[in-house]
Amino acid sequence: MSAALKSSSGSGGGTRHFLELMDLDPASLRHMLELGKRAKRGEISGKPLDGKTVAMIFELPSTRTRVSFEVGIRQMGGESLVLTAKEIQLNRGESVKDTARVLSRYVDAIMLRTADVTNIREMAQYATVPVINGLTNISHPCQLMADVMTFEEHRGPIAGQVVAWTGDGNNVAQSFIQAAARFGFTLRMATPDLLKPPAELVAWARREGARIELTDDPVAAVAGARAVVTDCWISMSDEKTAATQNRHNMLLPYQVNGALMRHAAPDAIVMHCLPAHRGEEITDEVMDGAASAVLDQAENRLHAQKALLTWLLGRGGDAE
Ligand code: CP
Ligand code: NVA
Repeated sequence: MSAALKSSSGSGGGTRHFLELMDLDPASLRHMLELGKRAKRGEISGKPLDGKTVAMIFELPSTRTRVSFEVGIRQMGGESLVLTAKEIQLNRGESVKDTARVLSRYVDAIMLRTADVTNIREMAQYATVPVINGLTNISHPCQLMADVMTFEEHRGPIAGQVVAWTGDGNNVAQSFIQAAARFGFTLRMATPDLLKPPAELVAWARREGARIELTDDPVAAVAGARAVVTDCWISMSDEKTAATQNRHNMLLPYQVNGALMRHAAPDAIVMHCLPAHRGEEITDEVMDGAASAVLDQAENRLHAQKALLTWLLGRGGDAE
């Protein structure tokens, strides 16, 4: 089994983790999503994280993930510690295993953003508290919870709807594939041949019953779609290796602009996890246009993660 599909133990060893959408069953994810909607309506009462501390380790930069987790934890009565990889001993070669075991003695949950998915798997293997994936080189499940929530707020139930992705088959794209399997939407993904998502992930999603359509033609992907989604052309974990000029040339035809949007459904929304590179993967016209849901996505990170933390740590977070 390839690295991309190696089991990442959603709740192995009795501790509940949030590592990949594929680890969790549709009912638990749906329950969490509905909790997120309730959090947004102000219906998560009391301080479910009272007395709890969450450590957040960032090996890579972040605006939304960091701030939405910190604010959400505070709103729920908990405390957070932000640790950049540079300032902890991980940076001097202390193992992930030892870091996981030590932090588990101090805190109630660990969130990790890492350029190497094996780090988060190792963290979850050795931590005795829940571990949350705050983005890896191959996934960004917290983003997808907010994105599905955003779609449903704007356009109703996502099951059976057509969502189009255009651009790089990157970490967010790969979480979209997992989300299509878990939430039952059709995903049409247009990428250059060289930047396709991993074949084994697509095969897994199809085995799970997902409709995943791959193409290299962005117009074919967005035709009639209810949502058009894109992301940056060079992800943080690719910065050292991607040949920038080649990437840009390869991806320019996949830009989300006014001309491409004319092929989507008339009421299609546009989604981007942010940060955006305006003028590259998305134009100002689309980013700031009436169809843009990007700020709702950013806001919904807060509500979806409050739901996630309630599910992992709080009282009353269990699926019925
Ligand atoms: N979308 C997202 O995860 O943004 P940050 O990198 O700012 O956290
Ligand atoms: N694909 C992007 C997402 C940023 C939230 C990256 O990994 O840099």
